[in-house]
Amino acid sequence: MIKAVIFDLDGVMVHTDRFHYRAWKQLADELAIPFDEACNQRLRGISRMDSLEHILKNSNQSYSLKQKIQLTEKKNDTYKALIAHMTPADVEQEVLRTLETLKNKGLRLGVGSSSKNARFILERTSLSPYFDAVVDGTMIAKAKPDPEVFIKAAELLGVVPNAAAVVEDAPAGIAAAKAGGFIAFAVGDAISSALSDAVLYHFSDLPICLSNFNISSNKLQ
Ligand code: G6P
Ligand code: MG
Repeated sequence: MIKAVIFDLDGVMVHTDRFHYRAWKQLADELAIPFDEACNQRLRGISRMDSLEHILKNSNQSYSLKQKIQLTEKKNDTYKALIAHMTPADVEQEVLRTLETLKNKGLRLGVGSSSKNARFILERTSLSPYFDAVVDGTMIAKAKPDPEVFIKAAELLGVVPNAAAVVEDAPAGIAAAKAGGFIAFAVGDAISSALSDAVLYHFSDLPICLSNFNISSNKLQ
């Protein structure tokens, strides 16, 4: 039986992906580096510095580590100004109802996010009380696709990885879940990831998919 669910935050429970895009776009424009929504999709789930490195591949200028750190700080300042306006209304009713249903079924719920802003977002949106454990970007040495964030969350929840489902919108997150031995449920952009164990076309399908998931065959029944 699946005993716990570990959720990614950005792009799964809240649509902060559009704020990440706006903040990176502003920085890329200032540096005269081409950057569009398609480039942004490749930044899902990966750390701030890995995202910058990805963007700088399209630059013919080289940057020192100190400059790169300054650039990530600049991006984060723009991003923080955007998420500062978030409220509980930024969480869809479907997400709240689903979390409620899972809690009522006795499942342990956790967050596994690469973001160092995850706790701030959980507080702004009043999502924090739903979770028994939160592991964010400040608590890990290696970001997704490394499984560290989910392994830490499972430890805090007191479950073994193969009794826990991970819900992810990023191919890097699905890869991290599988590398850690978790059951990987894909939403949104990760739906096309060949690695996932099941696909959620609607967030509200989660309770039924969890009940119908056969751990022995690793498939939906
Ligand atoms: C999430 C997002 C990524 C972001 C990462 C780090 O995983 O999907 O796009 O780069 O968090 O976020 P942070 O808020 O620490 O810059
Ligand atoms: Mg995500």
